[in-house]
Amino acid sequence: MNVFRRPAWAVVIALCVLAALTSRAAAEDSKPADPAAAESAPVSYAKQVLPIFREHCQGCHQPAMAKGEYVMTRFDALAKGGESGDAAIVPGKPDESNLLAQITPDAGKAEMPKDKPPLSETQVALIRRWIAEGAKDDSLAAGKPAIDAEHPPKYETPPVITALDYSPDGRLLAVSGYHEVLLHDAAKLQAGEESLVRRLVGLSERIESVRFSPDGTKLAVTGGQPGRTGEVQIWNAADAKLDLSLPVTYDTVYGVSWSPDGKLVAFGCADNTIRAIEAATGKQVLFNGAHSDWVLGTTFSTKGTHLITVSRDMTMKLIEVPTQRFVDNLTSITPGALKGGLGAVECHPTKDELLCAGSDGEPKLYKMERDKARQIGDDFNLIRKYAAMPGRVYSARFSRDGTRIAAGSSLDGKGEVWIYDAANAQVIAKNPDQGGGVFAVAFSPDGKLVAAGGFDGSVRLLDPTTGKEVSKAIPAPIAETQPVTK
Ligand code: HEC
Repeated sequence: MNVFRRPAWAVVIALCVLAALTSRAAAEDSKPADPAAAESAPVSYAKQVLPIFREHCQGCHQPAMAKGEYVMTRFDALAKGGESGDAAIVPGKPDESNLLAQITPDAGKAEMPKDKPPLSETQVALIRRWIAEGAKDDSLAAGKPAIDAEHPPKYETPPVITALDYSPDGRLLAVSGYHEVLLHDAAKLQAGEESLVRRLVGLSERIESVRFSPDGTKLAVTGGQPGRTGEVQIWNAADAKLDLSLPVTYDTVYGVSWSPDGKLVAFGCADNTIRAIEAATGKQVLFNGAHSDWVLGTTFSTKGTHLITVSRDMTMKLIEVPTQRFVDNLTSITPGALKGGLGAVECHPTKDELLCAGSDGEPKLYKMERDKARQIGDDFNLIRKYAAMPGRVYSARFSRDGTRIAAGSSLDGKGEVWIYDAANAQVIAKNPDQGGGVFAVAFSPDGKLVAAGGFDGSVRLLDPTTGKEVSKAIPAPIAETQPVTK
């Protein structure tokens, strides 16, 4: 199984794939990829092998979910192997390395990646050559402990909060951290007591969105490493077990939402696609490319028949779930009618009315069903607009009874939270003291609090009738010996 002995055409294909694999590194060097150099230079673990493991293996082989008791996210564990007791990698000896045996196809099938198509011949050959060359770790992380469930991040300053959500019973508040989601006991957090109950440390460095399933048993998380990998995670909320880690695209993934029956999870991607998977299996059931820029938010209609999505392309789109088809633009299609991209969308809890918000700072409510033919220039689905907040709105949510709306904004390093009456559009309360841009808001299920988080890494609990701050806490565990900068 040596790539050099393949017929010429196979080598050409191999070189093309190699060139593709190394193209990012080549781009960084601003030199064209030189296939001959790629062939003769030693295989780079960081640039060529690790991306394959990230995309095809680490989802099932990380401390939060170590299938076969095998962890591939840390270099020492990667070489060691798992429950079989066989060394996964023996440097210099590919034929004694169990990993290579597991990925080498036999009659078109390979043991690993489990229940998935085998790696390409080129990828297998590349890994073989890397092992033959001594299986060296040339990554930046070489020698440093990787962050994973057994080595949770240590914080010196509070990380920016990009996402938060209450569990449906109101007992837990999930807040994004760096490389993890922090689950807090909501009542204790409010009381200023020790409240961190679980840390959900997965593969993604950057967390973009977090939502509890309708029954509260699962937590869906999207994120990734910007410009490298995207991921959807599904966690079991009760015991912090990772059910699913799905690699998606080569950039971070946004705007996760659950179908009302809790069976599907939808999200938006930086390759402009909208996707949905079965929560239980990870199987993709919806794929749509109607948007022309990053898709930042998704929400299902009340019956789950439709998916509504918003994008930096300034539109809110309606997609039919069973057929995966684009149905309509809910926002106006008149050129110039929309100002700036849309970043947040949520369906009203009981009616097919869609709250959206974005760059123009103006939350808007649209109806899903068009009951008149579209006229060019109309914005017929619009039900009402809400007073414009200063700056961009990053997050807008309904209260559980649908009577109120909370929105969080950011302008020039300052953030505000506003509460509106959903039906008559009155501004009920404002809180302009957010210590930085606000990127995430959520009503507690009983409607008595609005949690807000953003740039300064604090969660502020606000009284939605007055806007006043009830309490404030830093959800990330900050090293006590370190000065806390705010
Ligand atoms: C969908 C989940 C999944 C994916 C993806 C996956 N594995 Fe596995 N892997 C498993 C399971 C489960 C086992 C335990 C043995 C079994 O059930 O076949 C395992 C076992 C292994 C073992 C044996 C460990 C030992 O010493 O017992 C190796 C080596 C391995 N996997 C390598 C890989 C590599 C390399 C990839 C990527 C190319 C990969 N796996 C992708 C699920 C997965």
